[in-house]
Amino acid sequence: MTPPMLAIRDLNVWFGEPPDRVDAVKSADISVAQGESFGLVGESGSGKSTILRAVAGLIDSWSGDLQVAGLKVRGARRDRQFFKTVQMVFQDPYASLHPRHSVDAVLSETLHLQGIGNVDQRINKLLDDVGLGRSFRFRYPHQLSGGQRQRVAIARALAAEPRLLLLDEPTSALDVSVQAEILNLLSDLRAEHDLTYLMVTHDLAVVGHMCDRIAVMQHGRLVEELPVADLRRGAAKAEYTRGLIEASGSLGATA
Ligand SMILES: Nc1ncnc2c1ncn2[C@@H]1O[C@H](COP(=O)(O)OP(=O)(O)OP(=O)(O)O)[C@@H](O)[C@H]1O
Ligand SMILES: [Mg+2]
Repeated sequence: MTPPMLAIRDLNVWFGEPPDRVDAVKSADISVAQGESFGLVGESGSGKSTILRAVAGLIDSWSGDLQVAGLKVRGARRDRQFFKTVQMVFQDPYASLHPRHSVDAVLSETLHLQGIGNVDQRINKLLDDVGLGRSFRFRYPHQLSGGQRQRVAIARALAAEPRLLLLDEPTSALDVSVQAEILNLLSDLRAEHDLTYLMVTHDLAVVGHMCDRIAVMQHGRLVEELPVADLRRGAAKAEYTRGLIEASGSLGATA
């Protein structure tokens, strides 16, 4: 049997020391199959980004069991092979790209770090893959629109040829008109590159368009997990989930 692409068991993540300790994630279990797109939803501060950041190795203070493609992730140590498998795309492409690094510099740095050769060819292919094209190669972030910057951030994530992408509200900082373009790009890339997604969003329309299953978080805990088809049928059990659906009113609308 193929192991899940991501298996999170009894994950606890905290910040600080008592009495100021914040328990941001409490006893979370998530399993994401290979090729699946799994959504994490829930109110602000419920711990969604913290789960992604812990999986990505950006937080040291966690306990539990994390496995990626059947391999156990230990402590805060992440090696090159790990980053080759797992990459993260952040909410804000303005903040995630260095203002003085050209697109070429951003992509070649990742390719070099991953020991991937044929850099010229790879960069051109990556730019084609994210729908930017080669003419963007020597531009700087300030010469790009928000959507174009997020495409560069996605190209940077893809450069390592990952299998699992952690997407933290990848479109919420973008203009509404651009959001659908980026979501469509992400859908296409998942199919073309056989990717698995763990995606945070607070937008149920995004969930309807992008995800197979979701988990709902509240106060650091997963309160419900369900297939998006059930969500559409109104079969959500937790009161909190139903409230979320009512508040959004747009589930299933194609982005
Ligand atoms: N570096 C940190 N130090 C201390 N507390 C933190 C840190 N990062 C997050 N927290 C706290 O952990 C909790 C969960 O935060 P998190 O960013 O995961 O929420 P979220 O669900 O992603 O919210 P949002 O939808 O607003 O992005 C919050 O109470 C937050 O204040
Ligand atoms: Mg967040």
